[in-house]
Order: sequence, then C-alpha cells, then structure tokens
Amino acid sequence: MSYVVFALKWRPQDFNAIVGQEHIVTTLRNALQKNRLAHAYLFAGPRGVGKTSTARILAKAINCAQGPTPDPCGKCPSCTQIAQGNSLDVIEIDGASNRGIDEIRALRESVKFSPARSRFKVYIIDEVHQITPDGFNALLKTLEEPPDFVKFIFATTQPNKVMPTIISRCQRLDFRRISVMEIVGQLEKIIESEKVEVQKEALIAIAKASDGALRDAESILDELVSFTKGRVSLAEVVSVLGLVEQEMLFAVTEKIIAKDARGALEILDRVIGQGKDTGIFLSNLIEHFRNLMVARVSRGDASLIDLPEETSQLILKQAEHFSLEEIFSAFNVLVNTQEMAKRLDSVRIPLEVSLVKLAHDKKGDTLHPHQHARRESHPLPKQGIEPKTPAAGEKGTPLPAEQRQEEKIEPSPETEISLEGVKEAWQGIIESLSRVKISAGTYLNEGMPVKVERNVLTIAFPMNYSLHKESLERKENRQLVEQIVSQVLHTGTRVNFILSKEEIPRQDASSHPFIKSVLDSFGGRVIAED
Ligand SMILES: Nc1ncnc2c1ncn2[C@@H]1O[C@H](COP(=O)(O)OP(=O)(O)OP(=O)(O)O)[C@@H](O)[C@H]1O
Ligand SMILES: [Mg+2]
Ligand SMILES: [Zn+2]
Repeated sequence: MSYVVFALKWRPQDFNAIVGQEHIVTTLRNALQKNRLAHAYLFAGPRGVGKTSTARILAKAINCAQGPTPDPCGKCPSCTQIAQGNSLDVIEIDGASNRGIDEIRALRESVKFSPARSRFKVYIIDEVHQITPDGFNALLKTLEEPPDFVKFIFATTQPNKVMPTIISRCQRLDFRRISVMEIVGQLEKIIESEKVEVQKEALIAIAKASDGALRDAESILDELVSFTKGRVSLAEVVSVLGLVEQEMLFAVTEKIIAKDARGALEILDRVIGQGKDTGIFLSNLIEHFRNLMVARVSRGDASLIDLPEETSQLILKQAEHFSLEEIFSAFNVLVNTQEMAKRLDSVRIPLEVSLVKLAHDKKGDTLHPHQHARRESHPLPKQGIEPKTPAAGEKGTPLPAEQRQEEKIEPSPETEISLEGVKEAWQGIIESLSRVKISAGTYLNEGMPVKVERNVLTIAFPMNYSLHKESLERKENRQLVEQIVSQVLHTGTRVNFILSKEEIPRQDASSHPFIKSVLDSFGGRVIAED
C-alpha cells in the first residue's frame, strides 16, 4: 500500500475524533439530535484546525442511512462514499478555483435537482471568501430560497472577506486554534499507533511550532519521522525546525533577573552560534514573558499556561522574580525590538541592545535624570557591560539622602529645565510613560525633544509620523505625557508636538556602532524623511 501522509490518514471520521473544537461539536450534535439544522453554515477559523473535516462529518451525519444522527455509522454506502470523497450528493467546491459568476450560476442550476441517492444534497464550499463579488451575488440568490433538500457548508480562513449578506444567512461557527497540549495529545495517539518513538519534549516543540494548526503539527511529525527513521528527539526537532530550546529562554531570563547583561549577551551568542534564527528567539522570548505575566496574575495556578506541568512550574518560579510592571516593561521593550528589527532589517543588534537594557534596567532609574546623566557620561565600559551596583530607589534599597530629598521637591514651574536635561532624561520619560500606557510610550519613542522654552518642551516627529503626533495630542495622552515629564524632571512642564523635516542632530552621538544602536533603539532618533 502506498504511503498516506499522517494528516490524511488521521482525518477525523466522526465528531468524537475532532480535537479541540468542543463548542462546535456540541452545537452540531444538538442540532442533529433535535433535527434543527440550519440550511447554511459558515465555518470560520485558521488553517488546519478541522473545518473541512467537520464539514464532511456533518455531511455524513445528515445523510447516514441511520440518520440524521450525531453519530453516523461510517459503514453505510452514504458514509463510506463521503469518506472516500465520491458521494454524488456531497459536492465539494473549492472557492479559490471556482470563483466566477459562471461557476456559481452552474451551481445554482445544479442546486435545483434533488439528491441522487441521499436525503440531502450537501454543498461544501471551501475558501468561500475567494468567490468574486458577482459570484457572491449569484450565490446570495440561491441562499435566499434554497430547496429543502439542500444544505450549504461554507468554510473560510478569512470571514471578514465574506459579504455580510452571505454571513447573515448562515449560522456561523468559529473554529479556534488548537492548544499546545491538545495537539500533543493527538500526536501521542499517532506515534503510539504508528509505533514510532518521539520524545515528549519533541512533541511539545512540534506543537508549539505549528501555531495551533493540528494539520501542520501532523505534517511536521510525519516529515521528522521519515527523516529520522522513526526515532525523534528534541534535538532533531530543534535542528530541523530551527527552533530555540526552552532552556535558552529560561537561561536568558535568569540573566535578566541577575542583572547580568554580559551573561545575557553570551546566551544570545550561543543561540546564534547554534545557527538559530534570532527572529524566532525574539518571538519565543516575547511568548516567554507572556507566560511569566500569566503566571504572575494567576497566582500559582499553572493551568492558564498552555505548557506541560513541569515547565509551568518553572515559569511560576521565575515569575516570582518580577513585578507585573517589570514584565509589562520587558514586554514593551521586546515588542519594540521587533519593530526596530523590521526597520533595520536585522534582529541581532536591536536584540542585543534590548537584552543589555533589560539586564541593567532598574525601576528606580527612570525617576532620576541625574543618574542617567551619570550613566551616560561613561557609557558601556570596555567589557561592554554595566557595573553591577544596585540602583537607587529599587524596592528595599534605601535611597541616598540626597536623592530622598530630591524626591520630596514638589514640581515647581519656577525651576527652569534645559534641553540637555530633557535629553538626558528622555529614555526614562519614555519608559515611565510606557509603564502607564504602552501605546503612548511607543508613540513618544518616535519623537525627539528639540526645544525648551519657558518650561514648554517641544517634541518633534518625522514627517511621516503624523499619526503618532496626533495620537499624543489627544487630551488624555497629552496630560499623561505632561504629568510624566513633570515628574521625571521635577518641574511643571508643558509639551508641544511638531512635525519636523529637519535632521535633528543626535544627542551625544558616538561613532561606536554599539552605542549608536543603543541610541537608535532607546534614546533619540535622527529625524529624517524616509
Ligand atoms: N480539530 C481537529 N481534530 C482532529 N484532526 C484535525 C483537526 N484539525 C485538523 N486536523 C488534522 O488536519 C487535517 C486537515 O484538517 P482540515 O482539512 O479539517 O483543516 P481545515 O481547517 O479545513 O484547514 P484549511 O483551512 O487549510 O482547509 C485533518 O485531516 C486532520 O488530520
Ligand atoms: Mg479545509
Ligand atoms: Zn452511515
């Protein structure tokens, strides 16, 4: 017998075999039981999560010799023909290749004829969003007055592209991505029956890589099994898929906790040395922080983290070292890194900068512009990394007397601020703002302080960032920015946003590429039209 790929071989043949779509299975079962089927369904959802499979099972259930029944027999001629794809009364149409008005007209004609052998004629139209507008209109007429013996099942990965008039005539069912552990469960069944050995960690890695699409997970497993002759280890999955091991994510986060920037860079170096994709590492790290956040808010309940028990426990432990705010801020930094990477068309440098930043960032820092000035006057010593003195203002660390006093100074409009002072504190301002409102922080990050006059700070944006400027000009955002700037600079400050065509000289521009990239990412930004 020729080889049948897992994804086909394991196509579910009844509702019990459908993984992870309980809400849909329940709805359809009930409808079948009570004989209250809609005449048209829209199955919406991402690729490879069971839409076509469910459509065929529903067709079986409707036409089974013993039906309509939620549990089609699988043996009668109707059931077997549907399973083999040669039932005369179950018509599968690919919307992508039959998208025009002529095809739909032909369909309209055929709809009129009663079923050849079965109770119902079932039309399964896949990728229905691809049908042209004329085709849609023709379809609509059919949907308005369908003969009693016709059922439609539309499937789409892009429900937003299906005309609302069509959607309103269907019962819509939304398929969801399948969770990592549900996918692992299904893969376990497959390897058991196929008698192949695959490490559990390898299954988890496959499940994660498939992003909720069970079909993709099965295909990856299939390839790996044939590639490795039946024994699959995590190392193989990792190397074939170019994945990053979970260990590395924990390790780099440990370094962030230990404020060991150098160590964090060394780990990144190792990841790169293993030929891993830095982009994948970055998105995995973002996901890791997402898990830390969930761990933080779930207070010890690991069930919300979609990972195996042991890993969830490790995440819960690691999460204890962070406050929620710190996690948000790390998240923000990492997401900005992705943006930056897109713009620079390189992940490595922005990622290095972010790791250093995360591994030396201290909460108290941002509130003390003077500290920033000190730090920036000798940026990144030879070994590359920040000296490990605890920052003032950190929880539990008493503030030096001088600074404690500073904190007490009420914002007073009389204290003059200087452009230099603002520039020094700029990074701290953006961070503090991001902590309160990430979007506003992200917008402000595109601006540069350019002028201070009578405590009005002018912030310039490149011409093509007018949306950022406008968003910040909204009352609540402006107030927030003013509040934070005033707080950080210890003086009442108002802000004014402008668009600027001019190149604005970078503060303290250093020729060292690393330091330059630090500035690129987190400090100022040379304003230029691009
Ligand atoms: N929910 C599921 N339960 C069990 N198997 C599934 C499920 N989803 C996908 N599969 C597996 O993936 C294969 C493809 O699934 P199916 O064709 O139903 O997905 P789909 O949602 O229609 O995908 P597409 O949007 O790409 O058409 C199935 O044959 C089966 O092996
Ligand atoms: Mg499909
Ligand atoms: Zn049957």
